[in-house]
Amino acid sequence: MLKSKIAGIGMYVPENIFTNEDMKQYMDTNDEWIQERTGIKERRYAHRTEETTTTMGVEAAKIAIKRAGTTAAEIDFIIFATLSPDYYFPGCGVLVQRAMQMNEIGALDIRNQCSGFVYALSVADQFIKTGMYKNILVIGSEKHSFGLDFSTRGRNISVIFGDGAGAVVLQPAQKDGQGILSTHLHSDGENAEMLAMYNPGTHANHWVNDKVADFNDAEIADMFMSKEMIDKGQNFPFMDGPAVFKKAIVKFPEVVVEALSQNGLTTADLNMLIPHQANLRISQFVQQKLGLQDHQVYNNIQKYGNTTAASIPIALCEAWEQGKIKEGDLVCLAAFGSGYTWGSVLVRW
Ligand code: ACO
Repeated sequence: MLKSKIAGIGMYVPENIFTNEDMKQYMDTNDEWIQERTGIKERRYAHRTEETTTTMGVEAAKIAIKRAGTTAAEIDFIIFATLSPDYYFPGCGVLVQRAMQMNEIGALDIRNQCSGFVYALSVADQFIKTGMYKNILVIGSEKHSFGLDFSTRGRNISVIFGDGAGAVVLQPAQKDGQGILSTHLHSDGENAEMLAMYNPGTHANHWVNDKVADFNDAEIADMFMSKEMIDKGQNFPFMDGPAVFKKAIVKFPEVVVEALSQNGLTTADLNMLIPHQANLRISQFVQQKLGLQDHQVYNNIQKYGNTTAASIPIALCEAWEQGKIKEGDLVCLAAFGSGYTWGSVLVRW
């Protein structure tokens, strides 16, 4: 059966480095706490106005397209994964199509948070395998700095996240045995609210539908995002850190083993695991549980923080640029995050 391969990969991170020390001007925190609990030393923050989730995605995409030996005009489908889109709608996919002056191709946005890139790759893989498309651009990009609570109230979350983008071009594999071997997607919505941003959202249905005309503009705005919601910080992400940690350290290894065993392989066959860069402690726990050596796992959360949908393509790109992934290597991408959703992609490079 036709397989798909990662033909080109690129990444983009903003120039602006924001250290743990810099955090202290906004909240009561310290470098020691952040490094000990998360491994993070610094992260990048996008320019307030000039860099958006889409513009960063486009920069990563340009590199991926060039390395794939193709052009924007030859891309026949776009998949964009993010939880921090430029607009509530439309999604970033169409903004990439416009920015890169692509043909009137399909553009799909994926909302699977930390698992977004793995889900996006899996969807792209199906389109290549059926022969429907030959050049799919898959992007993961986030501008978290836009929507974090930088007061002490939000410190358990805000110190973790960073901005950046990664992209790949998927094409049909030419060589036997090369390419994506399998993808594995999972979800469990039982704890959907454990890691979530609730507002604005239709769960808060304040509207008295047939009496809209009775409300003035200020009252309507208040229903959409009320002062009470803002006072309670409900316009920012919420995370029950310990609950997420407990689930992540079970599901991460499980989905890696699932991918390996479905292909008759074991952890000994694995050249490189690229885990979603959630938290260095989670990655270290997963490494230990799977019995992997240091050279079999790539982490760069220390430099970029958690960039959610962008973390896997950024880490994959860096590992590849550093020569840590070579032709013929067995590479596993694995993610766990809000939803909860989790998944893996096993690739013969
Ligand atoms: N600086 C200083 N102190 C802090 C900070 C901070 N940035 N954040 C929280 N604290 C304090 C708390 O106020 C609390 O103080 P108290 O004991 O006086 O009340 C104390 O540290 C412990 O707070 P917890 O929230 O219980 O912190 P915990 O030890 O659980 O660490 C963390 C928080 C790092 C988020 C941890 O729960 C964790 O690793 N969770 C995994 C989830 C995760 O990493 N998610 C990443 C994003 S989701 C994803 O990608 C899957």
